[in-house]
Amino acid sequence: MTNRITPLTERPSWKALEAHALTARKQHLRELFARDPTRGERLAVEAAGLYLDYSKQRVTDETLALLLQLAGEANLGDRIDAMFRGDRINVTEKRSVLHVALRTPRQESLVVDGQDVVAQVHGVLDKMAGFADRVRSGEWKGHTGRPIRAIVNIGIGGSDLGPVMAYEALRHYSQRDLTFRFVSNVDGTDFAEATLDLDPAETLFIVASKTFTTQETMTNARTARDWSLATLQNPDAVARHFVAVSTNAAEVAAFGIDTANMFGFWDWVGGRYSMDSAIGLSTMIALGPVHFRALLDGFHQMDLHFRTAPFDRNLPVLMALIGLWNTDFLDAGSVAILPYEQYLKRFPAYLQQLVMESNGKQVTQDGTPVGCQTSPIYWGEPGTNGQHSFYQLIHQGTRLVPCDFIAFAQPLHPVGRHHDLLLANVLAQAEALAFGRTREEVEAEGTPAWLVPHRTFEGNRPSSVLVADRLTPAVLGALVALYEHSVFTQGVLWDIDSFDQWGVQLGKVLAERILPELESEGQPVLGHDSSTNALIRRFRDRARSDD
Ligand code: F6P
Repeated sequence: MTNRITPLTERPSWKALEAHALTARKQHLRELFARDPTRGERLAVEAAGLYLDYSKQRVTDETLALLLQLAGEANLGDRIDAMFRGDRINVTEKRSVLHVALRTPRQESLVVDGQDVVAQVHGVLDKMAGFADRVRSGEWKGHTGRPIRAIVNIGIGGSDLGPVMAYEALRHYSQRDLTFRFVSNVDGTDFAEATLDLDPAETLFIVASKTFTTQETMTNARTARDWSLATLQNPDAVARHFVAVSTNAAEVAAFGIDTANMFGFWDWVGGRYSMDSAIGLSTMIALGPVHFRALLDGFHQMDLHFRTAPFDRNLPVLMALIGLWNTDFLDAGSVAILPYEQYLKRFPAYLQQLVMESNGKQVTQDGTPVGCQTSPIYWGEPGTNGQHSFYQLIHQGTRLVPCDFIAFAQPLHPVGRHHDLLLANVLAQAEALAFGRTREEVEAEGTPAWLVPHRTFEGNRPSSVLVADRLTPAVLGALVALYEHSVFTQGVLWDIDSFDQWGVQLGKVLAERILPELESEGQPVLGHDSSTNALIRRFRDRARSDD
């Protein structure tokens, strides 16, 4: 007889949550706040420089107790220990998941398969720091003897989104006489626009790819090599203008990059969990090693908190549990990420990969259907821009969209009243979503009867507010680690493998098949469905047409 784990939706706490949701759905945040004047301070938790106010989420003490019970029944504590220990918790790829080792302090050690991974991590960090210092100081010269002025990171997915997000987020701390560009899309426009005003003699390319086989990245890397050599004229120039970040030394060498100029990482770092590995080389060149280490320390502080804090005071755990409640019991299909900080403009895009590639899964680790909704859709834009576009739907639409507001007490650019206006807006939005404006209030203002329904806000729309003093490298590290661990926690509860990404494979395979059909000289025999066949024929015909 097999020892079958009770499926999530059949566990006592899940059943109890379903029953509880029947009444909880009818409760309004207005009542919850009226009943408990301390709610705003009580439902808040602080760690690693981040303060999370979750009082405007539609949860009560009973909801939280049941969610915590759910975490207990999923053996969350054991699963956290397993990750930190280096167990092969990525079951479908049989790999450890050790991004936490990337920010473990030098004096500690973690032996996995006979290797001290912490020592390996610091070996690479030291090599990165030496290189970053040489580029920043101008000591690293290009082929013609001129210093590097522009750094172009070529990568995609986790090899792009983390670097570009971190660069934008921490630009305030960057060396301003260096230009940074990020090329990811296989659309030639991306490369063309990124390099339009750059001089090959002063440009360094970082080819960032865990596998060094990704079609988009390798295509862009070859184009970059052609672009460089068209001016520099000598294949030896590659050694001064190209470095690689990868786990695949053989492919790096085959491309023509000296492996002495390769910065390695390991198969236990997932692409979307890699911005603090050597994939962050562009970040380190932009910020310098000192700020990069502060970023790592911020990650580490959140790791320590996640590993040691009781679950009812644990930021990532609470965020995960509330997210699961919204998704599975309040039927929310998405989460809006709304940073009130212009420097975090790429943070929603970064989280899209982190969350949706991790938890956009439909089967549990043993291959059976999950039986409930998994990852919601993440999206968002910086405030206050979103207020003048999609907030209408969040306030008065028919869908429930839980929001994560992110705000900082101190501006990085104090300009007149700007920051007070920014903060007034974020506070107003969270307040309006929660409490709305009743029909009676609208009527009392003398609004004509026909207009009352249009001006009424039902409220009861959940949000969290995440606050830090100031956007620093350490705070960014803590913020990213918070979401990483929240994703992990939800994956544990849904019992899915948050660290594989089989869903991206099919499209890649089909594209390989279609490419020669688009490029071949004769008329290829097409064996797709009638829609795909017709589109291929159309692209072939029109690509060569002048009309
Ligand atoms: O598209 C899937 C994916 O494997 C991501 O998980 C990854 O971040 C990205 O492609 C890039 O992969 P690589 O770093 O190997 O080029």
